[in-house]
Amino acid sequence: AATTTYQAENATIANGVVEANHAGFTGTGFVNYDNAVGSAVQWSITVAAGSTSLVFRYANGTTTSRPMTIAIDGATAATPSFAGTGAWTTWTTASVTATLTAGTHTVRATATTANGGPNVDELTV
Ligand code: GCU
Ligand code: CA
Ligand code: CA
Repeated sequence: AATTTYQAENATIANGVVEANHAGFTGTGFVNYDNAVGSAVQWSITVAAGSTSLVFRYANGTTTSRPMTIAIDGATAATPSFAGTGAWTTWTTASVTATLTAGTHTVRATATTANGGPNVDELTV
């Protein structure tokens, strides 16, 4: 099926900043989460009904995972680890699968540790 990409830098950011100082991002930048519990990015996505892959593109230049809660319409769907990628310029993806109704939903990725989230480039659905 067709996919849509939603840039993190165009989403709603709670305790983070848009930056572009680490190469390899798409769009115009990425979100540097504040290194704190609760920093978050929230997207509004529109989908067809059914099983849907949410693919988060990120970089984590540390050797410590940066887990985040992925909530869909306010309900926790998964807590991926966002493991280290080796460098802030090395981007990879983490995927979550959810069964959604047709229409618009919120997807919120919230850091759960004092390290904050990874740097997040985009969400493809
Ligand atoms: C560095 C890096 C940032 C990153 C931060 C972090 O400062 O340049 O892009 O967000 O580390 O540890 O979260
Ligand atoms: Ca950060
Ligand atoms: Ca981006």
